[in-house]
Amino acid sequence: MDYSQKISKRHWNQPDKGEREVAREQTFIDDIVQKSHIEKELLANLTGIETVFDGGGGSGRFSILLAAHGCHVTHFDISKPMLDKASQLAKAAGVEERITFVLGALEDLSAYADRSFDLVISFDAPISYTWPNQEQVIANLVRICKKRIMLSVSSRLGTLPYLANPTSKNQFILNPDCGDPYVDWCILNYQNAIDQFSFNQPACMDLLEHGRMGGDAEIAEYEKGGAPWPITYTFLPDELSRILHENGVKNIQLAGPGAYARTIPNEILCKIMRDPAQKSAFLDFCHIFDQNPYVCGMGKDNLFAKGEIL
Ligand SMILES: C[S@@+](CC[C@H](N)C(=O)[O-])C[C@H]1O[C@@H](n2cnc3c(N)ncnc32)[C@H](O)[C@@H]1O
Repeated sequence: MDYSQKISKRHWNQPDKGEREVAREQTFIDDIVQKSHIEKELLANLTGIETVFDGGGGSGRFSILLAAHGCHVTHFDISKPMLDKASQLAKAAGVEERITFVLGALEDLSAYADRSFDLVISFDAPISYTWPNQEQVIANLVRICKKRIMLSVSSRLGTLPYLANPTSKNQFILNPDCGDPYVDWCILNYQNAIDQFSFNQPACMDLLEHGRMGGDAEIAEYEKGGAPWPITYTFLPDELSRILHENGVKNIQLAGPGAYARTIPNEILCKIMRDPAQKSAFLDFCHIFDQNPYVCGMGKDNLFAKGEIL
């Protein structure tokens, strides 16, 4: 097993992971924008879709939505806490009979025959945690897909600004008093992050050229018993498009959810989020803006792709 799979498994199997994942849309505006973009795409593309494979489905944000729309979903994830949380939420939503929960790693999809599922989805970067096997994982996700595929992976151009802005998550805090430990950390660490910062051009060039975040330090921490953030492979737009194209996917379209929102200061974003009418109109506009091919690489964290198997 590769280190990235081992590290990802330990990281996502921390007991509080399911609970933390569910809270993200209550705590961070970039998560609201990103999930809203994906939800709009899913709901607009359900014609002819009965069966779905959700690879790295997490706490069920999208598998429960699709089951509520009548789909039969295979919810596949490397994390038991995530599956437990998703199962609990599926029961509460009354859709558990339409979801099959499977513990497994995307690196091995041999249990599934070619063209098994009408729709294959994998959102918010599970594929990026499978380095160095990410191309083979995408090939297998395409292999088991019959009609439509939608993915979101870590975006290289979208991630590079983090290297010159260690406080970037603060821009998206919805409520500083919510008590979430990560929100508290972002606020407490704000000044320290600025004081300690110096621009590291070689690190930027390395990420731009090779795409990988994390490596030796994460492996060392893992070996000491820690649970570091997974080694993450970030994709360039042309690269993701090429991989899908080489595997026979047609009508490929990319988007960068969060590209519009990241240009707006926290005070204004919070104001928009607190007014339901403005929030709805804003998320509709973000969905349109973020689909423009000229901004697709500059999404907040993720690069989204959809395509068809003809
Ligand atoms: C950020 S969460 C996204 C969850 C969900 N797709 C969503 O968009 O709300 C990433 C998920 O990928 C899963 N994951 C990470 N590496 C994986 C792997 N190699 N195989 C399967 N799942 C994996 C994690 O356990 C976690 O649930």
